[in-house]
Amino acid sequence: MNKNTIRTQNISETKKIGKDIAKNLHGGEVIALHGELGSGKTAFVQGVAEAFQIQNASSPTFLIIHEYKVLNNLDIKRIYHIDLYRIDAQDNSIVYQLKEILEDKKAVVFIEWPEKIDQGILPHAKYIYFSFIDENTREITLEKI
Ligand SMILES: Nc1ncnc2c1ncn2[C@@H]1O[C@H](COP(=O)(O)OP(=O)(O)O)[C@@H](O)[C@H]1O
Ligand SMILES: [Mg+2]
Repeated sequence: MNKNTIRTQNISETKKIGKDIAKNLHGGEVIALHGELGSGKTAFVQGVAEAFQIQNASSPTFLIIHEYKVLNNLDIKRIYHIDLYRIDAQDNSIVYQLKEILEDKKAVVFIEWPEKIDQGILPHAKYIYFSFIDENTREITLEKI
């Protein structure tokens, strides 16, 4: 598999990777974001959101699924930013909601903490791995997207 590893030295550089990847999206992609807390997953999604002119891609911790409307793209109408960190393993409702969202071909879906659910639900996902190197350095390994 074609992989690419990049180190970033600040949050803007991580956002820039998200912005760059946004240009290659067509709708229907599912992108799983692996990495510990603080490794830059949300920062990356904020970069994607900027490319789609979405202003408010913050992560209020009480919401697991965020849906953002995209108005500047012919193919992509929605971005979903899903953070499974707090899901209750007993609660299947998120998995049902997720399955519906994954059928939306006019959306791109980003999932933080994908390891919290059965990976069989994400057969077509691309994976991005984030790691914390030091206070300002993050290492990001991407499958070719
Ligand atoms: N190179 C970098 N890339 C991304 N974030 C960085 C970087 N250096 C420092 N940071 C800080 O690390 C934190 C990353 O947080 P966040 O993106 O929410 O992580 P995650 O979603 O993986 O838990 C932010 O507070 C950000 O300012
Ligand atoms: Mg996060």
